[in-house]
Amino acid sequence: MTDDADATADAAAGVDEEEAVRTDGGDAAAAGADDVALDPWGSSTVADYRKLFEEFGIEEFDELLESVPNPHYLMRRGVIFGHRDYRPVAEAMREGEPFAALSGFMPTGDPHIGHKLVFDEIIWHQEQGGDAYGLIADLEAHAARGLTWAEIDEHSRDYLLSLLALGFDPEDGELYRQSDNRELQDLAFELGAEANFSEFQAIYGFDGETDVSHMQSVVTQMADILYPQLEEPKPTVIPVGPDQDPHVRLARDLATRMRYFKVTAAYASFECDDAERELVAAAYAALADDVEEGGNGDESVRCEDAADWLREHAPEPVDARESVVAKLEEAGMEPVRPRTRFFDRQATDDAFEALVEAVDGEKRVYEGHVDSFELDRAEAEELARQVELDHGGYGFVPPSSVYHRFMTGLTGGKMSSSVPASHISLLDDPAEGYDKVKSATTGGRETAEEQREKGGRADECPVYELYAYLLAGDDDEFATEVYEECVGGERLCGDCKEQAAVLMEEFLEEHQEKREEAEALLEDLDIDLDSDRQR
Ligand code: TRP
Ligand code: SF4
Repeated sequence: MTDDADATADAAAGVDEEEAVRTDGGDAAAAGADDVALDPWGSSTVADYRKLFEEFGIEEFDELLESVPNPHYLMRRGVIFGHRDYRPVAEAMREGEPFAALSGFMPTGDPHIGHKLVFDEIIWHQEQGGDAYGLIADLEAHAARGLTWAEIDEHSRDYLLSLLALGFDPEDGELYRQSDNRELQDLAFELGAEANFSEFQAIYGFDGETDVSHMQSVVTQMADILYPQLEEPKPTVIPVGPDQDPHVRLARDLATRMRYFKVTAAYASFECDDAERELVAAAYAALADDVEEGGNGDESVRCEDAADWLREHAPEPVDARESVVAKLEEAGMEPVRPRTRFFDRQATDDAFEALVEAVDGEKRVYEGHVDSFELDRAEAEELARQVELDHGGYGFVPPSSVYHRFMTGLTGGKMSSSVPASHISLLDDPAEGYDKVKSATTGGRETAEEQREKGGRADECPVYELYAYLLAGDDDEFATEVYEECVGGERLCGDCKEQAAVLMEEFLEEHQEKREEAEALLEDLDIDLDSDRQR
């Protein structure tokens, strides 16, 4: 593993270490290497956001924007560009059902405007009625970054103060340090039983040199992500930069592996994988019609008939066809009948018995599963979860995520915490913030004349990004006005930067005042910011 603390702090904050990515996404690839690496501890490169959709299966946020009640401006402006399985969260929001939002911060340096995106996302979900969680990933900072506990204490305080200053309600939500949360660590231990080293190798590139504490910080993050569901399973969104996607995928896997039962559709007594099941479904659909048309209404489709049909009609010898035909033949005269199956994944004996008992109506009990002929999938899912919860299981819902774009550095290129002029810390003196904006790179033309004639390049301008990501706040009209005036040639960079610099100065002043007010709040929270840990 690398020891580049900056890269990690930045990646967490959604600040791209490698590549300046423009909000238009279009010519970003021209900026350099176009490979996508999602490395939570490396310097994540996202040269082309489209690849995240194609290669990693991240979904486009735009497609569900309409289903989100009063979406945040970061959603409306495409800064939040992607998601995994956010629909259940949006649905819970619409229906007034429970949901949660959680994100974590490695206390490796000052919180800055990149982190503010994530703070805002957590707070917005809290305002929409969600249970909100903000955590300090201090175990990870110590294990993967080698920070001392004294450094960690100081930075932790700064993150928490900014989160509170921006509006996180600690009465209604929860803030914690990984190192201090026993319940979290117990959950991490249980989850560790479902993961092994080969998997870490494949996902994170760990090897024989990787230290055990680093691995422990991974299971701790898995526990963080599922922590909001300890009291009760619920849709949970994790707002992060796309570099954290490997963690999200593993957490979704672990959530599923921890479940007692797996509910699937089934057509006969034997087990099928997804591909096989589709083939049986196709055969059944075709043959059931024939049986009805033939008028012999009480006849059933037999497994062997389905096997014959598949041999004739299924697409060319795929593995699934061979294997399912064999299974169907073995089942012979058994009727093919659609049903809902509860597969025993890792239920206790008591839980399995209780489930069998709880399935109403016609059912059939087998060695490792029970089939219901009356419950539909949704009813079955609910019953499975209830039985699991009643018998000591967690009943986790797979966690969801939303991903935001990395911010461009003020000096062009990448935004990096090791280059102070490239970013604005939330602790920067307001006058310094003003100066940094004034000396920022722009998307402007060589001369004022040329700018009036051709217009500025707002899509390639870090100053425009400041407006869109932060300074314009909720005011879409203002953000659009800046954009239109810029590309229309009415706006010149000098004035534009002056306006942005003043706004930034005001923002920092106000934020820092609020941080001072938040001191008292933080005191009351009883979060230990003086670790008595050594090293
Ligand atoms: N790994 C994250 C980072 O690099 C921090 C983190 C720890 C986190 N636990 C989390 C993020 C849970 C989101 C959810 O900054
Ligand atoms: Fe950027 Fe403003 Fe210049 Fe346009 S006018 S290029 S937004 S600084």
